[in-house]
Amino acid sequence: MKTEEPRPVLLSEYRPPAFLVDKISLEVSLDPDKTEVRSFLHMRRNPDAPREGPLVLDGEHFELKEVRLDDERLGENRYQVDDTSLTIATVPDEFVLSTLTTCAPAANTALTGLYQSNGIFCTQCEAEGFRRITYYLDRPDVMAEFRTRIVADKSLASVLLSNGNCVAEGTLEDGRHFAEWHDPFKKPAYLFALVAGDLAVVEDSFHTMSGRDIALRIFVEPGNEDRCAYAMDALKRSMKWDEEVFGREYDLDIFMIVAVSAFNMGAMENKGLNVFNDKYVLARPDTATDADYAAIESIVAHEYFHNWTGNRITCRDWFQLCLKEGLTVFRDQEFTSDQRSRAVKRIADVRLLRTHQFPEDGGPLSHPVRPNAYIEINNFYTATVYEKGAELVRMIHTLLGAERFRKGMDLYFERHDGEAATVEDFLSAIGDGGDEDLSGFKNWYSQAGTPEVLVTTQWDQASATYTAKMSQICPPTPGQPNKTTLPIPIELGLLCADGTEIPLQLDGEDSPGATSRIVMLDQREQVFRFHNVTQKPVPSLLRGFTAPVKLSANQSERDWTFLMAHDSDPFNRWEAGQKYASTILISNAEALQKGGKARQGNVFSDIIEKLLADENLEPEFVAQMITLPAEQTLAQTVGSNVDVEAIHAVRNDLRSAIAERLWETFRAAYDRLLVPGPYSPDAESAGRRTLRNTCLSYLVASSRPEGLRLAVEQFQAADNMTDEIAALALLADHDGPERETALEAFHERWKTDNIVIDKWFAIQAVSTLPGTLENVKRLTEHPVFSLSNPNKVRALIGSFANANQLRFHAADGSGYSYIGDNVLELDRLNPQVAARLLGAFKSWRQFDSARQDQMKAVLEKIVNAPGISQDVYEIASKSLS
Ligand code: BES
Ligand code: ZN
Repeated sequence: MKTEEPRPVLLSEYRPPAFLVDKISLEVSLDPDKTEVRSFLHMRRNPDAPREGPLVLDGEHFELKEVRLDDERLGENRYQVDDTSLTIATVPDEFVLSTLTTCAPAANTALTGLYQSNGIFCTQCEAEGFRRITYYLDRPDVMAEFRTRIVADKSLASVLLSNGNCVAEGTLEDGRHFAEWHDPFKKPAYLFALVAGDLAVVEDSFHTMSGRDIALRIFVEPGNEDRCAYAMDALKRSMKWDEEVFGREYDLDIFMIVAVSAFNMGAMENKGLNVFNDKYVLARPDTATDADYAAIESIVAHEYFHNWTGNRITCRDWFQLCLKEGLTVFRDQEFTSDQRSRAVKRIADVRLLRTHQFPEDGGPLSHPVRPNAYIEINNFYTATVYEKGAELVRMIHTLLGAERFRKGMDLYFERHDGEAATVEDFLSAIGDGGDEDLSGFKNWYSQAGTPEVLVTTQWDQASATYTAKMSQICPPTPGQPNKTTLPIPIELGLLCADGTEIPLQLDGEDSPGATSRIVMLDQREQVFRFHNVTQKPVPSLLRGFTAPVKLSANQSERDWTFLMAHDSDPFNRWEAGQKYASTILISNAEALQKGGKARQGNVFSDIIEKLLADENLEPEFVAQMITLPAEQTLAQTVGSNVDVEAIHAVRNDLRSAIAERLWETFRAAYDRLLVPGPYSPDAESAGRRTLRNTCLSYLVASSRPEGLRLAVEQFQAADNMTDEIAALALLADHDGPERETALEAFHERWKTDNIVIDKWFAIQAVSTLPGTLENVKRLTEHPVFSLSNPNKVRALIGSFANANQLRFHAADGSGYSYIGDNVLELDRLNPQVAARLLGAFKSWRQFDSARQDQMKAVLEKIVNAPGISQDVYEIASKSLS
């Protein structure tokens, strides 16, 4: 807890550790209220650091019982202890330090360090949780070989797990038993894990490219064994993919996943023993949606891929977090693109970037992909580090092409395997191996803010030339008033009136090349000139979103509709539709404020009709094309003085107008898209369901009662959770008797299912009906709701704050004060989850002055509240700056 203004940690102050740990042995004797941890650290002075100074170990939230140095028990005069450390003034150059400490897992509500989740002991050590288990040099550049002996009552925990291989197990007296684990790979403490409890196991195996057989085990609470098949399948596909695409084979003989119900994040890549939030493991057709299946697949892959990008090569310090996270997100994105539809995945990723990262980067919490300072590192697992970090890797991949990128990655693994590396190490390895000078790219990692690219195009008939004048600026961000120019790769194409594309011949080239090419904007302003352009083209700019920038160009609505129909680049086809729809919606919102007339979007409707009829298009892609931009996205596009009510109203109105005009089309598509046969989560079937449910949402938005009737029927008849929940979401947003009936039926069916019931909470939290906040408050009294379970908090309170723009931003400020009060209450239990919830206020300056005042007042109340955590303090104080 904060006592005075916390001092930030600075990248510029990085120093190598004064001591190294070669080996660590842990003996953990489990007990909910008093777990004993005995540790033996085989330490020596770091030859690469100054040779004097005391030994300072990190440690907090436990009790120290004993300190031994080379078998000698130290008197209290030989060491010093404070809230966060243990200091020993004089130690030899090489020694074994042993401590005995006790902690209370059952009382640990922060869910970092050793805690209990529904009776299961488990650990979460990233980023700085290991120091809550024992005294240690808890920093990623201290890598050691771990041995762990776990002792527990058999009745308390029948399964005892840790990293690596199980080397011994057996029975002790008094009903106790033990297991010993050894991990031969040196690792930082944040990758340590221990799990113990009464767990069931599902087993499989994987045959590697070099012919080894790996045992695969998924541990779950008994009764959930029938929900593990998809995660297991995703794991095997991930292992195969990393061999094929990156040449990376798994290294231990066993790979384990444990699913727990109380977890701060999605999942964690502990060496050989990944721990997962159970909602990202457990799936059965009747309990999990297509989106859940897709999330399971990508998170299983992500954590598995960390074995090489994160574990074998780890981070020197936490400023380098993007080195493992940005790179691994890029890898999981590529995996999903290969397993499913590349176009659809790109659209989803850019959507995520725009809805989370752009607002973060344009507001008070803006920071570079590699930050320079932090108060609490847990606040830096952000969209910027992850999503923008992945985009930076993607730009490099785009520039080099798959083959040279692979050579660069090979060199990266060759040079740094077993090490704790930096972003500079990564860039030099990729540059050297891929034969490309990436020095200009470094600025992308250190400069915050989203660059804005302005393109002005001109066609000259007489010379048959087409010029694109491009310029870049990056708006100032906190602490970075002046910005440098960045290398921005921009893929583009030129379309003729009949939709064909022109082979591109740039200035200085003697013949035309490909129809889609990348130009590099690396100056403040540049002109690109194309020759042999004999008719006026429509440009398709920033195809595939080749750089994380905001691009604007002198393009008309006619250009958008033309690109929607003809662009060969699916991403830009979607982009054109979104730009066109958002132009209509924003002008309609202005019209609504000024009493003008709204546009009905008939041209847009006509294009939707054609898209629905086009059998060559993937259904999931069509669904993305015909879905209007979200209210939050529209708010960001408006940027200031956002009128949330107007945006909500015009978006609903346009949807209804489209639904009226295309009723027959949607109705027919709804029948045609029914997926026959038993449920399968594959991408194609899932895509048909997405499109079918998108059609249903239009049908419900029309004035015909049949729409609602179809939703009720679908809700009642659905044999899978995707269709069931899609219908329920529509009914829950409708003010009528169907709503209560459906919500009650769903509750009756699923009230004892820990994961499914969260969907019921979330659906009610995002309802746009006026009584939503009162309902959310009422639901916090529901017997299964608990402020100490992060999934429950995220489903109910988090969904309200982050996914219900209309009600969170209610004009009377009720949404703000409710979330503010919850942040304070939650902070006493779980600071990490509280700080994340507070992130809902980050774009407060986008709104009108009355709302700004209300949000500011909440932030001020929080920042001034006595005893708040560093986590919450950092977010609140920065949000106000
Ligand atoms: N290493 C993280 C988990 C983590 C994050 C632990 C922050 C401690 C603090 C893990 O690899 C991760 O990134 N998980 C993501 C999901 C992933 C698919 C992007 C998560 O948990 O949200
Ligand atoms: Zn990760």
